[in-house]
Amino acid sequence: MRLVLLGAPGSGKGTQAARLREHLQVPHISTGDLLRAAVRAGTPLGLQAKAVMESGGLVSDEIVLGMLEERLTAGDTGNGFILDGYPRNLAQANALDTLLARLHQPVDVAVQLDVDTELLIGRLAGRAQVEGRADDTPEAVRNRLKIYDEATAPVVEFYRQSGRLVHLDGVGTMDEVFQRIVEALAPTPDVG
Ligand code: AP5
Repeated sequence: MRLVLLGAPGSGKGTQAARLREHLQVPHISTGDLLRAAVRAGTPLGLQAKAVMESGGLVSDEIVLGMLEERLTAGDTGNGFILDGYPRNLAQANALDTLLARLHQPVDVAVQLDVDTELLIGRLAGRAQVEGRADDTPEAVRNRLKIYDEATAPVVEFYRQSGRLVHLDGVGTMDEVFQRIVEALAPTPDVG
């Protein structure tokens, strides 16, 4: 299965992708994780991305697409993948469809996790205390949420219009949300 996870910062994409990786036995590809690894390694790409990420902005479409293409052609996505953090705007959504058409691996389904803003802010504040992620500061979180509303929310409509969207409530325990996703992805029994 080739799955895209959509949702605002803190909606649980990374949390659920880690569980779905075990369940579906396909790789979890997170552009945020790939970028953070590049920052840690001090690669030229990481050096370019660091300040943008810390401010909560989006890294350039060109950089992220190049990095993603490299990851999607690594040879382990034959049975599918879970994409987390991409696409984040309409240009990325179109670029992804073009890339995956070329690789003969089109997206099957996009799952959107819906969580209220207050709860998102609470979750990210909690993670800031535990992990100290550089972009979980109040100012960067505000910027990430604003960019999500302006640039990323239209991507949901992109998948709805192409009949590939599953929209789910992302509120509840991690187990409850996981169960909802698994049920939504299960094939509908043939009642004919
Ligand atoms: P990225 O790493 O993708 O961050 P994000 O989208 O802001 O998402 P988060 O990781 O904050 O949240 P999540 O939805 O994964 O939630 P999580 O499971 O972690 O991107 C970071 C940056 O990289 C971007 O800002 C940008 O600069 C750059 N970037 C990445 N992709 C890019 C792209 N395509 N183009 C351009 N730039 C890009 O959960 C959050 C917290 O909530 C955790 O503490 C978790 O334990 C907790 N939690 C999760 N689920 C629950 C639950 N059900 N109940 C209670 N707590 C929960």
